[in-house]
Amino acid sequence: MSFDLVLFGGTGDLAWRKLMPALFQAHRHGKLPPGGRILGVARDDRDDEHYRRLMGERLQEVDPGKRPSAEEWSRFAERLHYRPMDLSQPKDYAKLRAWLAERDADTVVFYLATAPHLFPVVCEQLGRAGLNGDRVRVVLEKPLGHDLASAQEINRVVRSVFNERQALRIDHYLGKPAVQNLMALRFGNALFEPLWRREAIANIQITLAESLGVGTRGDFYDRTGALRDMIQNHALQLLTMIAMEPPPSSDAFAVRDEKLKVLRSLKPFTRESVLRDVVRGQYRAGSIDGTKVPGYLEEEKVPAGSRCETFVALRTEVDNWRWAGVPFYLRTGKRLAARDAHIVVNFRPVPHAIFPGALPANKLVIKLQPEDGLELHLMAAKGGAAGEALAPVQLDLDFDKAFPTERVGAYERLLLDAIAGRLNLFVRSDEQEQAWRWVEPILDAWRQDDGQGPKPYAAGTWGPAAASALVARDGFAWDEET
Ligand code: BG6
Repeated sequence: MSFDLVLFGGTGDLAWRKLMPALFQAHRHGKLPPGGRILGVARDDRDDEHYRRLMGERLQEVDPGKRPSAEEWSRFAERLHYRPMDLSQPKDYAKLRAWLAERDADTVVFYLATAPHLFPVVCEQLGRAGLNGDRVRVVLEKPLGHDLASAQEINRVVRSVFNERQALRIDHYLGKPAVQNLMALRFGNALFEPLWRREAIANIQITLAESLGVGTRGDFYDRTGALRDMIQNHALQLLTMIAMEPPPSSDAFAVRDEKLKVLRSLKPFTRESVLRDVVRGQYRAGSIDGTKVPGYLEEEKVPAGSRCETFVALRTEVDNWRWAGVPFYLRTGKRLAARDAHIVVNFRPVPHAIFPGALPANKLVIKLQPEDGLELHLMAAKGGAAGEALAPVQLDLDFDKAFPTERVGAYERLLLDAIAGRLNLFVRSDEQEQAWRWVEPILDAWRQDDGQGPKPYAAGTWGPAAASALVARDGFAWDEET
């Protein structure tokens, strides 16, 4: 299968930090269809050779294991091309069409790694140039809008040019191997499904913690904040995969129908429930792994006195028969104690004690990063003297060890899926809009907030104390506190 991949924003941060390394890895693993061309598009006037050199230099800055050798690079670089374009100019799209027509590839993927305000312009122009036929797919990077109305507007324009099967909205968390394993765990095994419900589960916790700060992205981040940056998309997508009903098939539309139902079942926020159930925080100076780090307000390009949240913890419920009354706690933040993304399914305690001592309840930990694995926490007899209390043990599964040669990174997986037209791991417009609908009352309440603002937390901690109190109120604790 031949393909052309056109990278709008071809010299931007995302292109060289994530997309190019991922494409190179796909090429190295022999997964990228041979002969496929990659065309970088940006404003600056440069030629193929210059672009290759630039990308070659940049790829030397990525993780050592992902850097190409000289020989690997020269083979990969043959795929790379460059065209300068003014994205508002129809004549530039006509030239792009001519370039694509030279080869008439089976599949053409337009990857929009530009600033989001350019999405409508680019889509409209692609449509006018007739670059929206059946063989074409368009990949849209987040952020897709900053609220429901702006997301709907982007989707309206995208829909006027491309159909839903052609428009692939990226949530790179869905490309992480651990997330695909969540589907495998739930629907490839009969073991957990009977327990996957309110009768057996006490609460579910989703933590997406980062130890990094906002770095040089202060201006972007300050307009975004943790709720829009991580909760509206990544955390909610994980929640849907945990809470969804078994779909009738693995067809992308069947899976996304079930995810959408979960989003529609989320308890809507009111102003009162936002005050009670949502905690926002902002990091102050502190230390991470023994190194002193500045507070958010001291970061580059962050406006003085900013009230942008760098941390959010919230409690919600999925109002349906399976989950009624089970709290779902979602938490994310920058400059937290560790880079650690995981989901904890806390089961209910045993109903009646026949062993001495308190028995911690079972839990299943789905680890997304830095490790990718599963832990099942159980109680066991140590085999010592009679009457001895039970002890906690855990079954620990490390997927990197179980499948050492198979693991591919999130962007590599998603780019290959985009080229092959596999839609399962992309977000449908109605899911995305429903997620905005659910998040908006929180944004509204914060806007109206009477001088409260985000609560400070020291860098290197797990966020403001109020986040612990949120969970403690229900008689539970975050995983690291147990
Ligand atoms: C992005 C956010 O979507 O996800 C970033 O915009 C965040 O702020 C990143 O750092 C986290 O991704 P990962 O894969 O490193 O956990």
